[in-house]
Amino acid sequence: MKKKSAYNVAIMGATGAVGEEMLKILEERKFPVAELRLLASARSVGRKYSFKGKTYTVAELKEDSFDGIDIVLASAGGSISKKFAPFAVKAGAVVIDNTSAFRMDAKVPLVIPEINPQDIQKHQGIIANPNCSTIIMLVPVFAIHRKNRVKKAIISTYQAASGAGAKAMKELENQARDILGGKPAKKEIFPHQIAFNLFSHNSSVQASGYNEEEVKMTKETHKILHDDKIKVTATCVRVPVYRAHSESIYLELTRKPDVSDIRKIISRSAGLKLVDDRQNNYFPMPIEASGKDDVLVGRLRTDASDPHGLWLFVAGDQIRKGAALNAVQIAEILCQK
Ligand code: A2P
Repeated sequence: MKKKSAYNVAIMGATGAVGEEMLKILEERKFPVAELRLLASARSVGRKYSFKGKTYTVAELKEDSFDGIDIVLASAGGSISKKFAPFAVKAGAVVIDNTSAFRMDAKVPLVIPEINPQDIQKHQGIIANPNCSTIIMLVPVFAIHRKNRVKKAIISTYQAASGAGAKAMKELENQARDILGGKPAKKEIFPHQIAFNLFSHNSSVQASGYNEEEVKMTKETHKILHDDKIKVTATCVRVPVYRAHSESIYLELTRKPDVSDIRKIISRSAGLKLVDDRQNNYFPMPIEASGKDDVLVGRLRTDASDPHGLWLFVAGDQIRKGAALNAVQIAEILCQK
């Protein structure tokens, strides 16, 4: 992308949980925005947002919404991205897409800036943001992998309602209130009661027995690392947490890990914060990862049965590093070149 003093930016899905966070992050990180276009469905037309002291009004997303736009930050769902991203690219914009629509497309780079920023420049109009669980897992795992190659990763996720969008967060809140008030819980977004419960991730289950979220974690890791040999297998679970995903991660490493070395690696790596206080039983928690940019990493320990095995527990804000922040970081790199 040609270097400019400021860029015309559109947010597709500006009223969603991720879209609203994108707006905040653009302002916080002082992204050089010239014109800002907030796009959502017809339902949201006229909604107002403040950005750098000015008020912006939401417009309806249409095929001709992208005239003069340099960068589109897209987070309105896969089918909307599939339909509208080609119009944005045709109008000359680069789309940074938060949905799964283009992630596995060979022509589309899939990028975590701490891992494969060099892939950004290979784009042909669309750059994909990985799935939130992949990002939150891979930032710490890659920091270790660079020093001590990971042969296999086994992951269990504890995924917040935020991963299913603003309406799902509201559903968790409403169900909790209703249940405590002695009323039955209403289900609209999730297939099962989310308050005071947990369930296997609400994406479709494939013939292999893995659900889509679990398959994404494997395939996306291979694409981001350009390495199909690393073995990745996940169990993804939705938990009644408002915001921020947690993950228990087991790594089989090439060399025997030393926990004090791993602590140093985590402490020195961009995007990570070590939270590993055994004495006080204080480790990563989603409530403390919420609203933060860093992925919290702790519970570091070698496996009791295999000296090449390492366990860690991580928590990261799904809306920020898992989505909006990662997308804005990609935009920042795109604009530096
Ligand atoms: P709207 O609020 O007008 O429905 P979330 O993932 O948090 O639920 O957010 C989804 C985002 O995608 C919202 O901004 C939503 O806008 C937007 N969106 C959903 N459907 C459409 C559509 N058909 N056209 C444009 N934007 C859409």
